[in-house]
Amino acid sequence: MEIVETKDYEEMSILAAEKVIDRVLKQPQITLGLPTGHTPVGLYKRLVEDHRKNETPYQDVITFNLDEYTDLSPDHPNSYHYYMNHHFFQHIDIQEKHAHLPDGTARNLDLECERYEELILKHGGVDLQILGIGQNGHIGFNEPGTPLNSRTHVVKLSESTRKANSRYFHSLQDVPYHAITMGLATIMNSKEILLLASGAHKSATMFRFFHEAVTPDFPATILKHHPNVTVIADRPALKEAN
Ligand code: F6R
Repeated sequence: MEIVETKDYEEMSILAAEKVIDRVLKQPQITLGLPTGHTPVGLYKRLVEDHRKNETPYQDVITFNLDEYTDLSPDHPNSYHYYMNHHFFQHIDIQEKHAHLPDGTARNLDLECERYEELILKHGGVDLQILGIGQNGHIGFNEPGTPLNSRTHVVKLSESTRKANSRYFHSLQDVPYHAITMGLATIMNSKEILLLASGAHKSATMFRFFHEAVTPDFPATILKHHPNVTVIADRPALKEAN
């Protein structure tokens, strides 16, 4: 595992963007796995700036988002569909049919999970998976206790995750109770993984990430079994880990 410490959030975002741009230029038909949340906002901003300035092409890029809430329509401002369009897709030349997110409004959510997992496999798996990390060690919405061999599935969100995400909603009651997420095995199938972390509120998380053995109690630890992981994290996030 390669660990890159940056001065701050800005530098983390710049280095992450450089890596993604490099991979897209080398492999124009790359399949990217994408996160939402606060952490990658700066990365998407840099990718959009670069696209405007240097015309890095996304016409043939395929994307799969990690997760989506259930029961929010794609145009709901808190849905991850909306987030991705707002921060990234509408600013680049990606083809709509190439940008995939789980459908959290599907009638049969289990079937939707199967469809999503199969679609990822059909595209040959994710080439570069970008991840944030939850304070409880979740990646995607794989909460503590998720089996390490899990594939795309429906999850009940933990109260700590609902609380953390309620900052984007009017109130805690408005935060959905469930989501669809790629599983830990789905994530581990990716050829390359880029984990991003920023801020002092992630320092205890990063300490546990580096020092705990692989355990479902802290799902991100599974990344230690992956042969090609880069962590780009800023100094505040790494202050306890050093
Ligand atoms: C979002 C996702 C989550 C977030 C994590 C960190 O698609 O998969 O695992 O990456 O909750 O969120 P932030 O970046 O808001 O701290």
